[in-house]
Amino acid sequence: MRRLEPMTTTFTIGGDLEVRRLGFGAMRITGDGIWGLPEDPEAARVLLRRVVELGVNLIDTADSYGPEVSENLIAEALHPYPDGLVIATKGGLRRTGPGAWPRDARPERLKECCEGSLRRLRLERIDLYQLHAPDPAVPLEDSLGAMKELQDEGKIRHIGVSNVSLDELERARSVVDVVTVQNRYSLVDRHSEDVLDACEGAGIGFVPWFPLAMGDLAEPGGPLSEVARARDATSGQVALAWLLAHSPVMLPIPGTSSIEHLEENVAAGELRLSDDELRQIGSAGSGKSAA
Ligand SMILES: NC(=O)c1ccc[n+]([C@@H]2O[C@H](COP(=O)([O-])OP(=O)(O)OC[C@H]3O[C@@H](n4cnc5c(N)ncnc54)[C@H](OP(=O)(O)O)[C@@H]3O)[C@@H](O)[C@H]2O)c1
Repeated sequence: MRRLEPMTTTFTIGGDLEVRRLGFGAMRITGDGIWGLPEDPEAARVLLRRVVELGVNLIDTADSYGPEVSENLIAEALHPYPDGLVIATKGGLRRTGPGAWPRDARPERLKECCEGSLRRLRLERIDLYQLHAPDPAVPLEDSLGAMKELQDEGKIRHIGVSNVSLDELERARSVVDVVTVQNRYSLVDRHSEDVLDACEGAGIGFVPWFPLAMGDLAEPGGPLSEVARARDATSGQVALAWLLAHSPVMLPIPGTSSIEHLEENVAAGELRLSDDELRQIGSAGSGKSAA
């Protein structure tokens, strides 16, 4: 069983970007199917300002969210950015319609993606640029090589990868200094436990996407409700607190379009579960895991 470290509230990405460990995922501020504008763009901008007011300083986005919509809204709501705000974006996918995400991580395409993100986010340099997913049609080393060139040109500060296996992570690390990995992971989806272990060993930030299992873990009445009730918390908060306790390199980025849910999720950063509670939750989660 994983040794539980004392909880720290911050993590330093790449040795120089200190962030609060509970971040915000900005995928849910677009239209249905992560396509087009949200119903109320001003409400999305208000939500983004609230993210920062609450002290969150890691916002995850991608050129493909909308496409372009999430990055545009972030710039409209928050530029000029407060000191210390880390915007992590990604490139390497195309959008061909609602819910469709074909991969395209050719070097020339990644460079085009990065230029677009720099323009939309109104940045001279992106703090954390992530390869959204390896493209089976392109050697991973070529995709990472393009990102290294972008880094050498000063257009990106740090490089992250997403949706990688352990083998792909090792290959990526042979080309560039990988500072974060973003994979699907939650209490009920631990397929990436081996990748998380590798990240922990190397001090690489691990950013779990779908940390609330798309909201399922926030539903009342699930496997977390007993602990939630005892701690006067919600099931979603217990799921996030479990992630934070599970590994010191864990940087969850729950996504929401609701201020109420945002405030609830951020407050989960304060919830310290006891060892007994963590064990109880861990076994409930692994019982349900599809792994
Ligand atoms: N790298 C990748 O390939 C990849 C893929 C997917 C996502 N991501 C990133 O990961 C982030 C997180 O993933 P996600 O947003 O899809 O999934 P998630 O955080 O697991 O769940 C989001 C869903 O849960 C609901 N929710 C959030 N907080 C809640 C709360 N306190 N109570 C009840 N329901 C709640 C949201 O609905 P409401 O809007 O109603 O709150 C939304 O439907 C994304 O925003 C994105 O930045 C990355």
